[in-house]
Amino acid sequence: NNHSIRIAIDGPAGAGKSTVAKQVADRLSYIYIDTGAMYRAVALKAIRSSLDLHDGQALKRMLDETTVELIKNDEGQSVFLDGQDVSEEIRSHEVTNNVSFVARLAEVREDLVRRQQLLAEKGGVVMDGRDIGTHVLPKAELKVFLIASADERARRRFEENKLKGFEVNLEELKQEILLRDKRDSEREVAPLRKAEDAVELDTTSMTIQDVVAKILVLAGERAD
Ligand code: CDP
Ligand code: CDP
Repeated sequence: NNHSIRIAIDGPAGAGKSTVAKQVADRLSYIYIDTGAMYRAVALKAIRSSLDLHDGQALKRMLDETTVELIKNDEGQSVFLDGQDVSEEIRSHEVTNNVSFVARLAEVREDLVRRQQLLAEKGGVVMDGRDIGTHVLPKAELKVFLIASADERARRRFEENKLKGFEVNLEELKQEILLRDKRDSEREVAPLRKAEDAVELDTTSMTIQDVVAKILVLAGERAD
């Protein structure tokens, strides 16, 4: 088929969204948009600028002078903040544990959602995040909600850290993931939630290839 559809992938941390979204986009020659990376870049800049992470107006002023670009590379995507490659820095412990604070501000969400909608304007896009199916692309042809047990999600992140040479405590990692999920689910603006028309996939005992294959089948049905 040559229909370009919009695929929204949401779910909690470590459910497999970005890994799977990237591969689905490659297979379909679609663009991949990692909205979490955009929130992370905003959090990074706010931290660097010593802004109060709860001050929506200050963040809004900062955003008026901020560019965030997602550039495709061999491994996936590089993230540029004001022209500087911050792909590594936005994955730091400090950003990870503070990003939910800036992500709950209406001013920040309004600005980033507008940018995300512009990026998806032409279709042929796989976008992952927390509110893609519910707010960013409410008319997406395919919505997927990925879940996995907290133990499995923590284990995945643990393995990821080990590969990078970082020593982390599995139980601590699990608690941090649960805390971030809680903040993301309980915030007032666009909380993490499954859209009514989303297909839920529990990936706890699925391989990445299984999940990708399943989404490609669903995408094929939607594109017909
Ligand atoms: O990859 P991981 O699941 O750790 O997180 P992420 O997708 O990089 O998102 C980082 C944070 O950004 C989340 O914990 C949310 O607080 C926020 N976020 C959001 O609020 N809305 C989105 N569409 C994407 C991310
Ligand atoms: O984007 P999100 O936070 O939802 O998760 P991710 O960063 O895509 O996946 C977290 C880790 O789990 C990665 O290292 C993936 O390789 C791994 N993963 C897995 O082992 N099995 C899956 N079905 C999906 C992801």
